[in-house]
Amino acid sequence: MGSLLISYWNLPALLLVFPLLWRPCESQRAAGDYRPNILLILADDLGIGDVGCYGNETIRTPNIDRLAKEGVKLTQHISAAALCTPSRAAFLTGRYPVRSGMESTSEMLRVIFWLGGTGGLPTNETTFAKILQQQGYTTGLIGKWHLGVSCESRTDYCHHPLNHGFHYYYGMPYTLFNDCQTGQAPELGKVYKRYFWFYFQMIALALLTVAIGKLTGLFPISWKIITCLALLASLFLIPWYTSFTFVRHWNCLMMRNYEITEQPMRVERTASLMVKEAVSFIERNKKGPFLLFFSFLHVHTPLVTTERFIGTSRHGLYGDNVEEMDWMVGKILEAVDKEGLRNTTLTYFASDHGGFLETRKEGAQWGGWNGIYKGGKGMGGWEGGIRVPGIFRWPGVLPADTVIDEPTSLMDIYPTVIQLGGGKVPQDRIIDGQNLMPLLQRHVPHSEHEFMFHYCGTYLHAVRWHQKELGAIWKAHYVTPVFSPADAGACYEERMCPCSGEYVTHHDPPLLFDLSKDPSENKPLSVDTEPRFVAVIKRIRLAVQEHQKTVTPVPLQLSLLNNVWKPWLQPCCGTFPMCWCDKETDNLHSP
Ligand SMILES: *[C@@H]1O[C@H](CO)[C@@H](O)[C@H](O)[C@H]1NC(C)=O
Repeated sequence: MGSLLISYWNLPALLLVFPLLWRPCESQRAAGDYRPNILLILADDLGIGDVGCYGNETIRTPNIDRLAKEGVKLTQHISAAALCTPSRAAFLTGRYPVRSGMESTSEMLRVIFWLGGTGGLPTNETTFAKILQQQGYTTGLIGKWHLGVSCESRTDYCHHPLNHGFHYYYGMPYTLFNDCQTGQAPELGKVYKRYFWFYFQMIALALLTVAIGKLTGLFPISWKIITCLALLASLFLIPWYTSFTFVRHWNCLMMRNYEITEQPMRVERTASLMVKEAVSFIERNKKGPFLLFFSFLHVHTPLVTTERFIGTSRHGLYGDNVEEMDWMVGKILEAVDKEGLRNTTLTYFASDHGGFLETRKEGAQWGGWNGIYKGGKGMGGWEGGIRVPGIFRWPGVLPADTVIDEPTSLMDIYPTVIQLGGGKVPQDRIIDGQNLMPLLQRHVPHSEHEFMFHYCGTYLHAVRWHQKELGAIWKAHYVTPVFSPADAGACYEERMCPCSGEYVTHHDPPLLFDLSKDPSENKPLSVDTEPRFVAVIKRIRLAVQEHQKTVTPVPLQLSLLNNVWKPWLQPCCGTFPMCWCDKETDNLHSP
């Protein structure tokens, strides 16, 4: 009886000790022992086929490859959208971008077009940075934002990174595009030109009306108002005329926190400034814990590349740019090592979406390569637009040299880092991401994702179903883009595939593939070739209905009205409209 009592007594202690004894490999610490630093590196427009460790034998990405060697490489890492603004909104909030209104109903205007526009990441969305900040992390963002700046006045900064959980911001609040580099063919300038012309026509019409009214004595209006109108008209006529340069002034600028440091920015030196900032952030915060989100401007066109990398790759300027990006990754990892933070830092590398197939220069491919996957940037459903590199490293906690083929999402970062930081994901809203730690640590064989929904703008184009018991990855396409020319594999005529209207084909029944057997989505299955065809389509349709019930209408951030240029919102270094400065050079020259 006595001995029995003792053993009962010991039971709790035994239960506590048991997992320790049982753990096969003591070198693997449990996550949760301490809160790691979190280093998130996101490339822009990088294709999964552009990276050495994803099978590219001719492009050199030794630093990214090393991360994979020392950590976990995901082969089915999926972005929530195939375009920057929605994909990044989903990344930061852990939710499909339709939930935050960061998707567009328009055929063309599918990202934020102006820094001086109204739309952006809504203030009631909670980013992982905000939660980690509340948990005592020092949070920094270096690089691209592209999620809006202000709402009502030039300086309310409602959408700015500092208002979304970052203590420190250095970077380009917009995105790189051709017009940012002098000597490139204008890209957005062409679109903007139409806007300026439209505004000018409206004002000119009003001017003409009042002027005629005044001259004929029909309505008594002061010459003052007429002069004002004339000035306003010229304000639009001049930028229309020199659209190219003005677009550069309005959107190509750099900020440190709320302060504009360069307007327009000198793109040639941005890469080295960004690396310097990242290294300095790591040095300043080595006592930790910190969150650093390094958001590349590489490898977006116009592929701004430093002299020393030009002509060094085997794939033209694009390859040079990818190799420079990898070098920058190396510099940041070097700083982590130098401060002795390698084993206490969770490092992540990914791309916001697939490579841009339609971008060409002088007839040659100028954008990324999505390997064996069909389609690319801008297409909601095809794998090439959304399947991206995804690598995690945390020595001692995550296994090394490991490949995981399970479906995972960029939205998974949200609950994963929040949990590691000791925080809780918000309970008052739907979070679409799943905590990845159990999968990455190989404590579970499968990811939590059963269904994934692939949107193009606000339109649902395709659905993925991971039928775990069969190991099948079904993908049903309800809508696919119409390629132009028809057999080109991309929309070269439109320059990017629109999501709706005459530019798409609707499929009923949907086109069905099993990605586990046909990852390139080459041969659609049919009732004749796939006995489960009807059952699979039915199950997926049910999942779509369930999903759609959870999507509630919210204000559209990228609506036409939000997405036009508003002079009173234009971030401006100087007195509007004379917006230019170069504090970076001034800093260099001051003692
Ligand atoms: C490697 O990347 C380059 C540049 O995008 C591409 O042209 C090439 O086809 C890729 N090679 C392989 C084997 O995927």
